[in-house]
Amino acid sequence: MTVDEAREKLALCGQTHVLEWWDSIGEESRQSLLSQVKALDAAALGRMAAMLRGEGPAAAPAGIAPADVVELGGQDRAVAIARGEELIRAGEVGVLLVAGGQGSRLGFDGPKGIYEIGPVSDASLFEIHARKVLSLERAFGCHVPLYIMTSDINDAATREFFSKKAFFGLSPDRVRFFVQGMWPALDGDGRVILDEPGHIFMSPDGHGGILRALAENGMFRDMERRGITTLFYFQVDNPMVEVADPAFIGLHAIRGADVSVKVCAKRDPSEGLGVVVKKDGRNAIVEYTELSSAQKEARGADGRLRFLYGSVAIHVFSLDFLVGESKRDLPLHVAHKKVPFVGADGKAVKPDAPNGFKFEKFIFDVLPDAGTVVNLAFERGDEFSPVKNANGADSPATTRRDMALKFARWLEWCGVKVPRDGDGLPAMKIEIDPCFASNREQLRKRLPPGFSISGDVLLRN
Ligand code: UD1
Repeated sequence: MTVDEAREKLALCGQTHVLEWWDSIGEESRQSLLSQVKALDAAALGRMAAMLRGEGPAAAPAGIAPADVVELGGQDRAVAIARGEELIRAGEVGVLLVAGGQGSRLGFDGPKGIYEIGPVSDASLFEIHARKVLSLERAFGCHVPLYIMTSDINDAATREFFSKKAFFGLSPDRVRFFVQGMWPALDGDGRVILDEPGHIFMSPDGHGGILRALAENGMFRDMERRGITTLFYFQVDNPMVEVADPAFIGLHAIRGADVSVKVCAKRDPSEGLGVVVKKDGRNAIVEYTELSSAQKEARGADGRLRFLYGSVAIHVFSLDFLVGESKRDLPLHVAHKKVPFVGADGKAVKPDAPNGFKFEKFIFDVLPDAGTVVNLAFERGDEFSPVKNANGADSPATTRRDMALKFARWLEWCGVKVPRDGDGLPAMKIEIDPCFASNREQLRKRLPPGFSISGDVLLRN
C-alpha cells in the first residue's frame, strides 16, 4: 500500500490522524504503519464507531428468561456415552482450544498455557490439555486433531513451547496452530488510538474471532479433509476440563444440536460466568459484564438465582454450523480499558484510568442462530476450576486444590484411603496424569493391587 492509498482509506474511515506523525517517523516505521493501515478492517471500524456513537457500553439486555437445562443420568447417560465414543473412535471429533488471550488478570508474562499448574509435576496447562487429547487417541485407537488459536501476542512463544516439549507426545501433524485477528482501540471520539507515532495499538479481536481465523487459515478445509464433523471447544485456563467428554458429544449428536453448552450453578450472583438465557424464543448467553445488578441478583420463588446457570465456555459445535456462521458478522462487545497512547509531544503514555474502548467478538454469540441448542448441567467440582486471577477465587491455589480433591475422589472410589486434613482437604499433593487415567474407571484398571498412599502422589506413565 502506498501512502496515498493509505490516506484515501483512512479518509473514508474518518481516521486521517493515523498519519499525523508521518513526517517524523523513520522508513521502517512507515512501512509497518502502512501494512497496519492495509490490514485495518474498514467495515469493523465503521461498526465500532457507530456503536460508540450509539449507547456506549452495551445496555443490560431486556426480555430475557432462563434457558432450559438438561441433567443427564442413568440410561440416557449410558446411551450418550456410547454415541460419543462411537464418534470419537470414528475420527469425527476434533478439539478446539482458544489460547489467544492476554492473561492480564493472572499477571503472567507469556502464553497462559505455559503456566505451570500440575500440583506435583508442575505440568503446564498446555501439557495437561495435550495429554488429555493423547489419552483419547490411545484409549480409542483413533486420531483427534487439536486446533489451537493463538494471537500475534503469543503465537511464536506457543509454537516454540510445543516444539520444545515434543508436542507432549502428540503427532505434530495433528496439532494445528492458527492466529486470530487483531483490532484497534478507539478513543471517546471514535478515533483509532496510536501507541507510538508510527504504530496503531492493536489487541486480539476476542474468541469470536475464531470463526474468521479458522476460515482464513484453511482450518475448516483441514477439518473436512480429516472427516471431522464435531468440534469440542474449550478455554486454556481450565485444567479440569474433560476434553471431548463422550457423554457431552453423544448427547449433542443424539439431539441433532448445532451447539451444546456445559453449564453449572453460579456460586454467587457476582461470579464471572456468562448465563444461559432465552430471548425471543432463541437461545443465547449473556456475558456477566452485560447483566444488570438486578438481573444478577434476581431470585425465583424457590430462593435460587433466576439466572442460575453459567456457561463455563465448554462447547460442542457441529462443523457445518460453524462454517455457516463464519460467513456472518458476530455482534461487537465493548469494554472501557486503559490503552497506551501517544501524547502531544510524541512520547508514549501509560494511562492510569480507562481512556479507550476495546472491542471483541464472543463465540457464544452464534447461539441465537442455532436450530437446536443443548445446555448440559455438570458438577463444577468435576470439571471446572479455572486459573484467572493471581490470588483469591479462580487462582492457581484454588485450581490446585480442586484438582487434588477430584483426584482424591477418584482414588477413594477405587477403594484407596486418602488421608484428609481438618478442612476435608487431602493431606498430601495428588496428581494423576491424563495418560495414566482420564477417569475413575480407567484409574481402577491401572492402579497396582494394594495401592496405598504414604506421601505425595504422582501417577504417571
Ligand atoms: C470467559 C467467558 C465467560 C465464561 C468464563 C468461564 C468470555 C467473553 N467470557 O470469561 O462467559 O463464563 O470464561 O471461565 O469469554 N481468548 C482468546 N482470544 C481473545 C480473548 C480471549 O483466545 O481475543 C481466550 C483466552 O485465551 C481464554 C478464553 O478465551 O482461553 C477466555 O478469555 P477471558 O478473557 O479470560 O474470559 P473471562 O472473562 O474469564
